[in-house]
Amino acid sequence: MGTSGGSQMDAVAQRRVHSYAVDQVPLETLGSLADRIDTESATKVGSGSLGVVLVALDRPTGQQVAIKVISTKRVAECGESEARIRKEVRAMYDIDHPNLVRLIDVLYHPRRLPHIEWDPPYLCVVMDYISDSEPLSNKLRRFGRSVELANTVLPQIASALASMHEKGLVHRDVWSENVMISSSRQAILVDLGCAEYIQGESAVNSKLNIPYMSPESAAGQRQSLGDDCWALGLLVSEMVTGLFIRDRMGRSDIPLHFARPALGECKRETSRLGGQILSTITSGLLELEAPRRMSMQTVLAQCRAIANGTPKPQPPASAPKASGPGGFYVGQQVTYMPRSHNIRRAAVVVGRVAGRKAWQIQLTNGVTKEVEDSDMWRISAVDAPAPPPLKPNYATAMNVQAAAVQSARNASPVAVRLQAAPSMHIGAPPGARPTAVAYPHRMAPQGASVVMPVNVVMPGVRRI
Ligand SMILES: Nc1ncnc2c1ncn2[C@@H]1O[C@H](COP(=O)(O)OP(=O)(O)O)[C@@H](O)[C@H]1O
Ligand SMILES: [Mg+2]
Repeated sequence: MGTSGGSQMDAVAQRRVHSYAVDQVPLETLGSLADRIDTESATKVGSGSLGVVLVALDRPTGQQVAIKVISTKRVAECGESEARIRKEVRAMYDIDHPNLVRLIDVLYHPRRLPHIEWDPPYLCVVMDYISDSEPLSNKLRRFGRSVELANTVLPQIASALASMHEKGLVHRDVWSENVMISSSRQAILVDLGCAEYIQGESAVNSKLNIPYMSPESAAGQRQSLGDDCWALGLLVSEMVTGLFIRDRMGRSDIPLHFARPALGECKRETSRLGGQILSTITSGLLELEAPRRMSMQTVLAQCRAIANGTPKPQPPASAPKASGPGGFYVGQQVTYMPRSHNIRRAAVVVGRVAGRKAWQIQLTNGVTKEVEDSDMWRISAVDAPAPPPLKPNYATAMNVQAAAVQSARNASPVAVRLQAAPSMHIGAPPGARPTAVAYPHRMAPQGASVVMPVNVVMPGVRRI
Protein backbone atom coordinates (compact mmCIF):
# COMPACT_ATOMS: atom_id res chain seq x y z
CA MET A 1 0.00 0.00 0.00
CA GLY A 2 1.58 3.25 -1.14
CA THR A 3 1.19 6.68 0.30
CA SER A 4 0.00 8.53 -2.78
CA GLY A 5 -3.65 8.55 -1.78
CA GLY A 6 -2.69 10.23 1.42
CA SER A 7 -1.86 13.53 -0.28
CA GLN A 8 -5.17 15.02 0.90
CA MET A 9 -4.81 13.60 4.38
CA ASP A 10 -2.90 14.81 7.38
CA ALA A 11 -0.27 12.53 8.89
CA VAL A 12 -2.49 11.36 11.78
CA ALA A 13 -5.35 10.45 9.46
CA GLN A 14 -2.92 8.66 7.15
CA ARG A 15 -1.62 6.47 9.96
CA ARG A 16 -5.10 5.62 11.26
CA VAL A 17 -6.52 4.85 7.85
CA HIS A 18 -3.51 2.76 6.89
CA SER A 19 -3.85 0.75 10.11
CA TYR A 20 -7.55 0.18 9.46
CA ALA A 21 -7.13 -0.84 5.83
CA VAL A 22 -3.98 -2.94 6.13
CA ASP A 23 -3.37 -3.95 9.74
CA GLN A 24 -7.04 -4.79 10.26
CA VAL A 25 -7.36 -2.81 13.49
CA PRO A 26 -10.98 -2.48 14.71
CA LEU A 27 -13.33 0.16 13.33
CA GLU A 28 -13.48 1.94 16.69
CA THR A 29 -9.82 2.94 16.45
CA LEU A 30 -10.61 5.32 13.61
CA GLY A 31 -11.12 9.02 14.39
CA SER A 32 -14.53 10.23 15.51
CA LEU A 33 -16.82 11.68 12.83
CA ALA A 34 -18.44 14.09 15.30
CA ASP A 35 -15.02 15.55 16.24
CA ARG A 36 -14.35 16.61 12.67
CA ILE A 37 -17.62 16.95 10.75
CA ASP A 38 -20.61 19.15 11.51
CA THR A 39 -23.17 16.36 11.21
CA GLU A 40 -26.06 18.76 11.88
CA SER A 41 -25.36 20.40 8.51
CA ALA A 42 -25.50 17.10 6.60
CA THR A 43 -27.71 16.69 3.53
CA LYS A 44 -28.06 13.61 1.34
CA VAL A 45 -26.54 13.69 -2.17
CA GLY A 46 -26.56 10.09 -3.26
CA SER A 47 -27.12 6.51 -2.31
CA GLY A 48 -26.03 3.11 -3.47
CA SER A 49 -26.25 -0.52 -2.50
CA LEU A 50 -24.39 -0.24 0.80
CA GLY A 51 -24.01 3.41 1.56
CA VAL A 52 -25.70 6.76 1.68
CA VAL A 53 -23.59 9.73 0.60
CA LEU A 54 -24.00 12.91 2.64
CA VAL A 55 -22.47 16.33 2.18
CA ALA A 56 -21.51 18.25 5.32
CA LEU A 57 -19.09 20.83 6.64
CA ASP A 58 -15.54 19.73 7.46
CA ARG A 59 -14.60 21.93 10.43
CA PRO A 60 -10.77 21.89 10.03
CA THR A 61 -10.88 23.08 6.42
CA GLY A 62 -14.22 24.92 6.38
CA GLN A 63 -15.00 22.99 3.17
CA GLN A 64 -18.00 20.90 2.22
CA VAL A 65 -17.04 17.24 2.02
CA ALA A 66 -18.84 14.12 0.83
CA ILE A 67 -19.22 11.31 3.36
CA LYS A 68 -20.13 7.80 2.32
CA VAL A 69 -21.82 6.40 5.40
CA ILE A 70 -21.74 2.62 5.61
CA SER A 71 -23.68 0.75 8.29
CA THR A 72 -21.69 -2.29 9.34
CA LYS A 73 -24.97 -4.02 10.24
CA ARG A 74 -26.27 -3.44 6.74
CA VAL A 75 -23.01 -4.82 5.30
CA ALA A 76 -23.48 -8.02 7.30
CA GLU A 77 -27.16 -8.28 6.27
CA CYS A 78 -26.07 -8.10 2.63
CA GLY A 79 -23.83 -11.10 3.16
CA GLU A 80 -20.69 -8.96 2.97
CA SER A 81 -17.88 -8.76 5.46
CA GLU A 82 -15.95 -5.82 6.82
CA ALA A 83 -13.09 -6.95 4.59
CA ARG A 84 -15.05 -5.54 1.67
CA ILE A 85 -15.04 -2.06 3.27
CA ARG A 86 -11.39 -2.29 4.23
CA LYS A 87 -10.63 -3.07 0.59
CA GLU A 88 -12.57 -0.03 -0.63
CA VAL A 89 -10.71 2.18 1.84
CA ARG A 90 -7.38 0.70 0.84
CA ALA A 91 -8.04 1.24 -2.86
CA MET A 92 -9.07 4.84 -2.25
CA TYR A 93 -5.97 5.39 -0.15
CA ASP A 94 -3.74 4.05 -2.89
CA ILE A 95 -5.02 6.21 -5.72
CA ASP A 96 -4.32 9.83 -6.51
CA HIS A 97 -5.62 11.21 -9.78
CA PRO A 98 -7.64 14.28 -10.75
CA ASN A 99 -10.36 12.11 -12.31
CA LEU A 100 -10.69 9.78 -9.33
CA VAL A 101 -12.54 10.78 -6.19
CA ARG A 102 -10.04 11.67 -3.45
CA LEU A 103 -10.01 10.36 0.06
CA ILE A 104 -9.77 12.84 2.97
CA ASP A 105 -10.29 10.64 6.03
CA VAL A 106 -12.07 7.56 7.28
CA LEU A 107 -13.99 8.01 10.53
CA TYR A 108 -16.21 6.16 12.94
CA HIS A 109 -19.64 7.13 14.28
CA PRO A 110 -21.49 5.03 16.89
CA ARG A 111 -24.83 6.89 16.91
CA ARG A 112 -27.66 7.41 14.45
CA LEU A 113 -27.08 10.03 11.73
CA PRO A 114 -29.64 12.15 9.89
CA HIS A 115 -30.85 10.72 6.53
CA ILE A 116 -29.54 7.22 7.30
CA GLU A 117 -32.19 4.57 7.74
CA TRP A 118 -29.77 1.78 8.62
CA ASP A 119 -28.62 1.22 12.17
CA PRO A 120 -25.28 2.40 13.60
CA PRO A 121 -22.37 1.94 14.03
CA TYR A 122 -21.17 3.58 10.84
CA LEU A 123 -17.93 3.67 8.95
CA CYS A 124 -17.67 7.08 7.27
CA VAL A 125 -15.52 7.53 4.20
CA VAL A 126 -14.81 11.27 3.94
CA MET A 127 -13.87 12.42 0.44
CA ASP A 128 -13.75 15.48 -1.80
CA TYR A 129 -17.27 16.68 -2.53
CA ILE A 130 -17.76 16.90 -6.28
CA SER A 131 -19.89 20.01 -6.17
CA ASP A 132 -22.12 21.21 -8.96
CA SER A 133 -22.14 17.77 -10.54
CA GLU A 134 -24.50 14.99 -11.49
CA PRO A 135 -24.06 11.33 -12.42
CA LEU A 136 -23.42 10.76 -16.12
CA SER A 137 -26.56 8.59 -16.19
CA ASN A 138 -28.69 11.64 -15.29
CA LYS A 139 -27.04 13.73 -17.94
CA LEU A 140 -27.78 11.11 -20.59
CA ARG A 141 -31.38 10.81 -19.44
CA ARG A 142 -31.84 14.58 -19.60
CA PHE A 143 -30.00 15.43 -22.81
CA GLY A 144 -29.82 12.17 -24.75
CA ARG A 145 -26.88 10.98 -26.76
CA SER A 146 -23.84 13.15 -27.35
CA VAL A 147 -20.68 12.29 -29.27
CA GLU A 148 -19.16 15.48 -27.95
CA LEU A 149 -19.78 14.33 -24.37
CA ALA A 150 -18.21 10.95 -25.20
CA ASN A 151 -15.16 12.72 -26.62
CA THR A 152 -14.88 14.78 -23.42
CA VAL A 153 -15.55 12.04 -20.87
CA LEU A 154 -13.64 9.16 -22.45
CA PRO A 155 -10.07 10.58 -22.14
CA GLN A 156 -10.69 11.56 -18.52
CA ILE A 157 -12.10 8.22 -17.39
CA ALA A 158 -9.52 6.31 -19.44
CA SER A 159 -6.79 8.34 -17.74
CA ALA A 160 -8.27 7.58 -14.29
CA LEU A 161 -8.48 3.88 -15.09
CA ALA A 162 -5.00 3.78 -16.62
CA SER A 163 -3.60 5.19 -13.37
CA MET A 164 -5.46 2.53 -11.37
CA HIS A 165 -4.26 -0.18 -13.75
CA GLU A 166 -0.65 0.98 -13.33
CA LYS A 167 -1.07 0.29 -9.61
CA GLY A 168 -2.48 -3.15 -10.31
CA LEU A 169 -5.99 -2.07 -9.32
CA VAL A 170 -9.10 -2.86 -11.30
CA HIS A 171 -12.22 -0.78 -10.61
CA ARG A 172 -14.81 -3.40 -11.66
CA ASP A 173 -17.81 -1.07 -11.39
CA VAL A 174 -17.45 1.32 -14.31
CA TRP A 175 -20.92 2.52 -15.29
CA SER A 176 -22.71 5.79 -15.72
CA GLU A 177 -23.96 6.00 -12.09
CA ASN A 178 -20.35 6.00 -10.91
CA VAL A 179 -19.13 8.76 -13.21
CA MET A 180 -19.85 12.27 -11.94
CA ILE A 181 -19.85 15.13 -14.43
CA SER A 182 -19.25 18.64 -13.12
CA SER A 183 -20.68 21.75 -14.74
CA SER A 184 -17.25 22.38 -16.29
CA ARG A 185 -17.42 18.88 -17.82
CA GLN A 186 -14.83 17.36 -15.53
CA ALA A 187 -15.49 13.63 -15.23
CA ILE A 188 -14.73 11.96 -11.91
CA LEU A 189 -14.91 8.25 -11.31
CA VAL A 190 -16.32 7.34 -7.88
CA ASP A 191 -17.17 4.17 -5.94
CA LEU A 192 -14.24 1.86 -5.37
CA GLY A 193 -16.54 -0.58 -3.58
CA CYS A 194 -15.80 -3.40 -6.05
CA ALA A 195 -12.13 -2.53 -6.68
CA GLU A 196 -9.63 -5.37 -6.48
CA TYR A 197 -5.88 -5.84 -6.83
CA ILE A 198 -5.10 -8.11 -9.73
CA GLN A 199 -2.41 -9.83 -7.67
CA GLY A 200 -4.76 -10.31 -4.72
CA GLU A 201 -6.84 -13.36 -4.08
CA SER A 202 -9.48 -14.21 -6.63
CA ALA A 203 -12.46 -11.93 -6.04
CA VAL A 204 -16.10 -12.86 -5.82
CA ASN A 205 -17.94 -11.98 -9.03
CA SER A 206 -21.47 -12.44 -7.75
CA LYS A 207 -21.81 -8.84 -6.54
CA LEU A 208 -20.84 -7.24 -9.84
CA ASN A 209 -23.12 -5.12 -11.99
CA ILE A 210 -24.35 -7.88 -14.29
CA PRO A 211 -25.07 -6.09 -17.62
CA TYR A 212 -21.54 -4.62 -17.62
CA MET A 213 -19.69 -7.82 -16.68
CA SER A 214 -16.83 -8.75 -18.97
CA PRO A 215 -17.06 -12.15 -20.68
CA GLU A 216 -14.24 -13.43 -18.44
CA SER A 217 -15.79 -12.36 -15.14
CA ALA A 218 -19.14 -13.76 -16.29
CA ALA A 219 -17.28 -17.03 -16.89
CA GLY A 220 -16.05 -16.94 -13.27
CA GLN A 221 -12.47 -16.02 -14.05
CA ARG A 222 -10.40 -13.94 -11.66
CA GLN A 223 -10.34 -10.13 -11.84
CA SER A 224 -8.27 -8.56 -14.58
CA LEU A 225 -7.68 -5.16 -16.11
CA GLY A 226 -9.74 -6.18 -19.14
CA ASP A 227 -12.90 -6.06 -16.97
CA ASP A 228 -12.67 -2.26 -16.88
CA CYS A 229 -11.84 -2.04 -20.58
CA TRP A 230 -15.00 -3.96 -21.46
CA ALA A 231 -17.19 -1.82 -19.20
CA LEU A 232 -15.63 1.38 -20.56
CA GLY A 233 -16.55 0.26 -24.09
CA LEU A 234 -20.17 -0.10 -22.96
CA LEU A 235 -20.07 3.30 -21.27
CA VAL A 236 -18.86 4.92 -24.51
CA SER A 237 -21.64 3.20 -26.44
CA GLU A 238 -24.21 4.63 -24.01
CA MET A 239 -22.96 8.18 -24.53
CA VAL A 240 -22.75 7.82 -28.30
CA THR A 241 -26.11 6.09 -28.84
CA GLY A 242 -28.08 7.45 -25.86
CA LEU A 243 -29.25 3.91 -25.09
CA PHE A 244 -28.43 2.30 -21.73
CA ILE A 245 -27.27 -1.30 -21.89
CA ARG A 246 -30.17 -2.61 -19.82
CA ASP A 247 -32.67 -0.78 -22.05
CA ARG A 248 -30.93 -2.20 -25.11
CA MET A 249 -31.37 -5.74 -23.72
CA GLY A 250 -34.75 -5.07 -22.12
CA ARG A 251 -33.44 -6.86 -19.02
CA SER A 252 -30.64 -6.57 -16.48
CA ASP A 253 -30.10 -10.14 -15.34
CA ILE A 254 -27.57 -11.15 -17.99
CA PRO A 255 -24.33 -9.61 -19.26
CA LEU A 256 -24.60 -7.93 -22.65
CA HIS A 257 -22.45 -10.48 -24.49
CA PHE A 258 -25.05 -13.16 -23.67
CA ALA A 259 -27.47 -11.15 -25.81
CA ARG A 260 -25.42 -11.37 -29.01
CA PRO A 261 -27.80 -9.46 -31.34
CA ALA A 262 -27.94 -6.60 -28.82
CA LEU A 263 -24.14 -6.59 -28.53
CA GLY A 264 -23.80 -6.51 -32.33
CA GLU A 265 -26.28 -3.68 -32.59
CA CYS A 266 -24.52 -1.79 -29.82
CA LYS A 267 -21.21 -1.97 -31.69
CA ARG A 268 -22.73 -1.10 -35.06
CA GLU A 269 -24.68 1.90 -33.77
CA THR A 270 -21.70 3.21 -31.85
CA SER A 271 -19.45 2.99 -34.86
CA ARG A 272 -22.00 4.57 -37.18
CA LEU A 273 -22.82 7.48 -34.87
CA GLY A 274 -19.50 7.96 -33.08
CA GLY A 275 -17.11 8.65 -35.93
CA GLN A 276 -13.94 6.82 -36.80
CA ILE A 277 -11.88 7.13 -33.63
CA LEU A 278 -14.68 6.35 -31.16
CA SER A 279 -15.63 3.45 -33.41
CA THR A 280 -12.08 2.06 -33.32
CA ILE A 281 -11.88 2.46 -29.56
CA THR A 282 -15.27 0.91 -28.86
CA SER A 283 -14.74 -2.11 -31.05
CA GLY A 284 -11.27 -2.53 -29.49
CA LEU A 285 -12.73 -2.37 -25.98
CA LEU A 286 -15.65 -4.64 -26.81
CA GLU A 287 -13.38 -7.41 -28.09
CA LEU A 288 -14.78 -10.67 -26.73
CA GLU A 289 -11.34 -12.28 -26.42
CA ALA A 290 -9.63 -10.67 -23.41
CA PRO A 291 -6.05 -10.91 -24.78
CA ARG A 292 -7.11 -9.05 -27.92
CA ARG A 293 -9.03 -6.34 -26.05
CA MET A 294 -7.68 -2.76 -26.23
CA SER A 295 -5.71 -1.72 -23.14
CA MET A 296 -6.33 1.50 -21.26
CA GLN A 297 -2.95 2.86 -22.40
CA THR A 298 -3.94 2.32 -26.03
CA VAL A 299 -7.29 3.99 -25.41
CA LEU A 300 -5.41 7.02 -24.07
CA ALA A 301 -3.17 7.10 -27.14
CA GLN A 302 -6.26 6.96 -29.38
CA CYS A 303 -7.87 9.74 -27.35
CA ARG A 304 -4.93 11.97 -28.16
CA ALA A 305 -5.87 11.44 -31.79
CA ILE A 306 -9.36 12.74 -30.98
CA ALA A 307 -7.81 15.84 -29.44
CA ASN A 308 -5.52 16.35 -32.45
CA GLY A 309 -8.28 15.64 -34.95
CA THR A 310 -10.70 18.12 -33.44
CA PRO A 311 -10.51 21.36 -35.41
CA LYS A 312 -9.41 24.19 -33.14
CA PRO A 313 -11.96 27.02 -33.03
CA GLN A 314 -10.89 29.79 -35.40
CA PRO A 315 -10.21 33.18 -33.80
CA PRO A 316 -13.06 35.57 -34.53
CA ALA A 317 -12.45 37.60 -37.69
CA SER A 318 -14.18 40.70 -36.41
CA ALA A 319 -16.93 41.35 -33.90
CA PRO A 320 -19.83 40.85 -34.02
CA LYS A 321 -19.52 38.36 -36.88
CA ALA A 322 -17.19 36.06 -34.94
CA SER A 323 -18.40 32.56 -35.49
CA GLY A 324 -18.45 29.78 -32.90
CA PRO A 325 -19.28 26.09 -32.85
CA GLY A 326 -21.63 25.22 -35.68
CA GLY A 327 -20.48 28.31 -37.61
CA PHE A 328 -23.10 30.53 -35.95
CA TYR A 329 -22.37 34.16 -35.12
CA VAL A 330 -23.90 36.78 -32.90
CA GLY A 331 -26.84 38.50 -34.57
CA GLN A 332 -27.40 35.71 -37.09
CA GLN A 333 -30.97 34.96 -38.17
CA VAL A 334 -31.77 31.32 -37.49
CA THR A 335 -34.67 28.98 -36.98
CA TYR A 336 -35.10 26.98 -33.82
CA MET A 337 -36.69 23.57 -33.39
CA PRO A 338 -38.07 23.23 -29.84
CA ARG A 339 -38.28 19.92 -28.03
CA SER A 340 -42.02 20.14 -27.54
CA HIS A 341 -43.32 21.18 -30.95
CA ASN A 342 -42.72 20.21 -34.51
CA ILE A 343 -42.59 23.75 -35.85
CA ARG A 344 -39.46 25.76 -36.60
CA ARG A 345 -39.48 29.20 -35.03
CA ALA A 346 -37.59 32.28 -36.15
CA ALA A 347 -34.84 33.39 -33.79
CA VAL A 348 -31.63 35.37 -33.60
CA VAL A 349 -28.29 34.26 -32.09
CA VAL A 350 -27.56 36.27 -28.92
CA GLY A 351 -24.18 34.73 -28.05
CA ARG A 352 -22.39 31.97 -26.19
CA VAL A 353 -23.57 31.13 -22.67
CA ALA A 354 -20.80 32.04 -20.22
CA GLY A 355 -18.98 28.99 -18.86
CA ARG A 356 -21.07 26.53 -20.86
CA LYS A 357 -20.94 24.89 -24.22
CA ALA A 358 -24.18 26.38 -25.42
CA TRP A 359 -25.60 29.10 -27.64
CA GLN A 360 -28.20 31.57 -26.43
CA ILE A 361 -30.83 32.51 -28.97
CA GLN A 362 -33.82 34.84 -28.80
CA LEU A 363 -37.19 34.00 -30.34
CA THR A 364 -39.29 36.68 -32.03
CA ASN A 365 -41.55 36.86 -28.95
CA GLY A 366 -38.54 37.93 -26.86
CA VAL A 367 -38.11 34.63 -25.04
CA THR A 368 -34.48 33.45 -24.85
CA LYS A 369 -33.40 29.81 -25.09
CA GLU A 370 -30.13 28.08 -24.32
CA VAL A 371 -29.18 25.39 -26.77
CA GLU A 372 -26.39 23.00 -25.70
CA ASP A 373 -23.81 22.30 -28.39
CA SER A 374 -24.85 18.65 -28.31
CA ASP A 375 -28.31 19.85 -29.34
CA MET A 376 -27.04 22.28 -31.94
CA TRP A 377 -29.00 20.60 -34.72
CA ARG A 378 -32.02 22.39 -33.29
CA ILE A 379 -30.66 25.67 -34.68
CA SER A 380 -30.54 26.26 -38.45
CA ALA A 381 -29.15 29.25 -40.27
CA VAL A 382 -31.97 30.76 -42.34
CA ASP A 383 -29.76 30.81 -45.41
CA ALA A 384 -29.12 27.06 -45.04
CA PRO A 385 -30.96 24.74 -47.43
CA ALA A 386 -34.66 25.02 -46.72
CA PRO A 387 -35.88 22.36 -44.34
CA PRO A 388 -38.50 20.00 -45.75
CA PRO A 389 -42.12 20.92 -45.16
CA LEU A 390 -43.24 19.84 -41.74
CA LYS A 391 -46.51 18.50 -40.55
CA PRO A 392 -47.23 19.61 -37.00
CA ASN A 393 -49.23 17.93 -34.29
CA TYR A 394 -48.29 14.36 -34.95
CA ALA A 395 -48.96 11.87 -32.23
CA THR A 396 -46.00 10.17 -30.60
CA ALA A 397 -45.98 6.71 -32.11
CA MET A 398 -44.45 3.92 -30.08
CA ASN A 399 -43.43 0.54 -31.46
CA VAL A 400 -42.03 1.88 -34.67
CA GLN A 401 -39.97 -1.01 -35.93
CA ALA A 402 -37.68 0.42 -38.54
CA ALA A 403 -37.27 3.39 -40.79
CA ALA A 404 -35.30 4.57 -43.78
CA VAL A 405 -33.99 8.05 -43.23
CA GLN A 406 -32.83 10.36 -45.94
CA SER A 407 -30.67 13.22 -44.87
CA ALA A 408 -32.30 16.36 -46.18
CA ARG A 409 -28.92 18.02 -46.17
CA ASN A 410 -27.00 15.81 -48.59
CA ALA A 411 -29.81 13.65 -49.95
CA SER A 412 -27.74 10.53 -49.40
CA PRO A 413 -29.83 7.65 -48.17
CA VAL A 414 -28.89 6.34 -44.76
CA ALA A 415 -30.53 3.26 -43.34
CA VAL A 416 -31.33 3.81 -39.69
CA ARG A 417 -33.05 1.54 -37.29
CA LEU A 418 -35.13 3.79 -35.10
CA GLN A 419 -36.11 2.58 -31.70
CA ALA A 420 -39.17 4.26 -30.37
CA ALA A 421 -38.21 6.52 -27.51
CA PRO A 422 -40.48 8.83 -25.57
CA SER A 423 -38.51 11.80 -26.82
CA MET A 424 -39.09 10.88 -30.44
CA HIS A 425 -42.03 12.52 -32.13
CA ILE A 426 -42.84 10.32 -35.00
CA GLY A 427 -45.92 9.18 -36.80
CA ALA A 428 -48.84 10.42 -38.79
CA PRO A 429 -52.43 11.44 -38.16
CA PRO A 430 -54.82 8.47 -38.06
CA GLY A 431 -55.60 7.20 -41.56
CA ALA A 432 -52.73 9.11 -43.18
CA ARG A 433 -50.32 7.64 -45.71
CA PRO A 434 -47.53 5.51 -44.19
CA THR A 435 -44.99 8.19 -45.06
CA ALA A 436 -44.61 10.68 -42.26
CA VAL A 437 -42.20 13.22 -40.89
CA ALA A 438 -40.25 12.48 -37.75
CA TYR A 439 -38.10 14.49 -35.39
CA PRO A 440 -35.77 11.89 -34.00
CA HIS A 441 -34.21 13.88 -31.16
CA ARG A 442 -31.72 11.29 -30.14
CA MET A 443 -30.92 9.85 -33.53
CA ALA A 444 -30.17 13.10 -35.33
CA PRO A 445 -26.60 13.06 -36.60
CA GLN A 446 -24.26 15.19 -34.54
CA GLY A 447 -24.41 18.77 -35.74
CA ALA A 448 -27.28 18.17 -38.15
CA SER A 449 -29.11 21.41 -38.49
CA VAL A 450 -31.99 20.23 -40.63
CA VAL A 451 -34.99 18.14 -39.84
CA MET A 452 -35.01 14.86 -41.66
CA PRO A 453 -37.95 13.44 -43.52
CA VAL A 454 -38.46 9.86 -42.44
CA ASN A 455 -40.35 7.13 -44.16
CA VAL A 456 -41.82 5.26 -41.28
CA VAL A 457 -42.57 1.58 -41.41
CA MET A 458 -45.22 0.79 -38.86
CA PRO A 459 -46.41 -2.66 -37.94
CA GLY A 460 -48.91 -3.79 -40.54
CA VAL A 461 -47.81 -1.16 -43.04
CA ARG A 462 -45.78 -1.63 -46.22
CA ARG A 463 -42.06 -2.06 -45.42
CA ILE A 464 -39.78 0.31 -47.34
N1 LIG B 1 -17.57 12.55 -3.71
C1 LIG B 1 -18.83 12.66 -4.12
N2 LIG B 1 -19.36 13.88 -4.38
C2 LIG B 1 -20.66 13.99 -4.81
N3 LIG B 1 -21.49 12.94 -4.99
C3 LIG B 1 -21.02 11.71 -4.74
C4 LIG B 1 -19.68 11.50 -4.30
N4 LIG B 1 -19.48 10.18 -4.12
C5 LIG B 1 -20.65 9.58 -4.43
N5 LIG B 1 -21.57 10.47 -4.82
C6 LIG B 1 -22.96 10.17 -5.22
O1 LIG B 1 -23.46 9.11 -4.40
C7 LIG B 1 -23.79 7.96 -5.20
C8 LIG B 1 -23.47 6.69 -4.43
O2 LIG B 1 -22.08 6.66 -4.14
P1 LIG B 1 -21.24 5.33 -4.43
O3 LIG B 1 -19.85 5.52 -3.95
O4 LIG B 1 -21.41 5.00 -5.87
O5 LIG B 1 -22.00 4.29 -3.49
P2 LIG B 1 -22.37 2.74 -3.73
O6 LIG B 1 -21.13 1.96 -3.54
O7 LIG B 1 -23.36 2.47 -2.65
O8 LIG B 1 -22.92 2.64 -5.13
C9 LIG B 1 -23.01 8.16 -6.50
O9 LIG B 1 -23.63 7.50 -7.59
C10 LIG B 1 -23.01 9.66 -6.65
O10 LIG B 1 -24.25 10.08 -7.21
MG1 LIG C 1 -22.11 3.34 -6.99
